[in-house]
Amino acid sequence: MKLLETYQLGPFTLRNRVVMAPMTRNRLTAEGLAGALAAEYYHQRATMGLLISEAIAISADAIGYPMIPGIYNEAQVESWRGITDRVHDAGGLIFAQLWHSGRAGHSSAKDGGVMVAPSAIAIRGQQIFTKTGLKDFEVPRALTTAEIGAIIRDYQDAAERAMDAGFDGIELNAANGYLPNQFLADGVNTRDDEYGGGVENRCRFILEAMDAMVQVCGPGRVGIKLSPSTDRYDITESNPLALYGYLVGALNPLPLAYLHFMQPLSTVDAAYWPKDVISAFGGLTVHTVIANGGYNQQRAEQEVESGRAQLVSFGALALANPDLPARFAAGAPLNTPDASTFYGGNEHGYTDYPFWKK
Ligand SMILES: Cc1cc2nc3c(=O)[nH]c(=O)nc-3n(C[C@H](O)[C@H](O)[C@H](O)COP(=O)(O)O)c2cc1C
Repeated sequence: MKLLETYQLGPFTLRNRVVMAPMTRNRLTAEGLAGALAAEYYHQRATMGLLISEAIAISADAIGYPMIPGIYNEAQVESWRGITDRVHDAGGLIFAQLWHSGRAGHSSAKDGGVMVAPSAIAIRGQQIFTKTGLKDFEVPRALTTAEIGAIIRDYQDAAERAMDAGFDGIELNAANGYLPNQFLADGVNTRDDEYGGGVENRCRFILEAMDAMVQVCGPGRVGIKLSPSTDRYDITESNPLALYGYLVGALNPLPLAYLHFMQPLSTVDAAYWPKDVISAFGGLTVHTVIANGGYNQQRAEQEVESGRAQLVSFGALALANPDLPARFAAGAPLNTPDASTFYGGNEHGYTDYPFWKK
């Protein structure tokens, strides 16, 4: 089974091609740090070829929700070191997913700070869950050109801290309607400086952030997650084929670890296009492709066997099956993910999913 064969990802030998997709789990210590429970959760899953962490805020300003971990001070770096050590002790590899919410969040989650975005356009037709109940999304403040430079430096600093914390690399969360995705989408970014307008300008933020992070992490240690067919958080893009086609090509000269493509999920993105993101963009990159979104073992095997992708990431199945590669190898039944314990809570639905026993 090719999915269970090793794979050389830049400097790393992955023991299989099963990747754990990044998943926010909102289980922090009372101090807001990733603690022993999170370390156990990641340790349990270390037999997957590569783990990608939950989204981690690059700065206090990047936070849009309560209970989101950060990597912008020493205490946070120390707490992540406890996790990377446990993963490495088990022979695993872990990348940190770096995150900025942009307009997709609520100011109440960041002590009076305001939401910022490429343009002063609010998310329409949806509400957000806050400490004081459901609220409309706020109109964000448009970032100045100088502030954009500062955020790119925040990404770079966070990437450097992630390496200090023992992560093997980092992934830019440019998917699912968060800040980098907001820069890309012409329905959200109406700027008239060098970060808005044509496709090249809308890709500039991501390209500068990636370049800045490669400078501190080195070759083969920086990846990016893209969701070209999502309309999550009211993302609208008039020509995803042209936009992502350009972006993927422009990422080719950088010495990256991978491009992580999220397929449209039928429940959420059914109306959007392209329907098969790997077919649309996978062939345009010189980098390793991680396919994500609704895969089971059989479809994942087809994806790597055909060569369309080299790795496949699993979200819900990896959360519910700490020993996913062993279960695949044995053709064992899988635990069913319990959506009621995805976000927040304690060890229940986090570290107590059973391992498979013959
Ligand atoms: C509980 C949960 C939390 C998630 N949090 C994140 C996140 O922090 N960052 C991200 O890029 N995607 C996040 N996702 C999306 C997953 O990474 C993945 O793209 C999605 O679940 C589709 O893969 P799947 O069909 O294998 O579950 C999350 C998904 C779940 C189920």
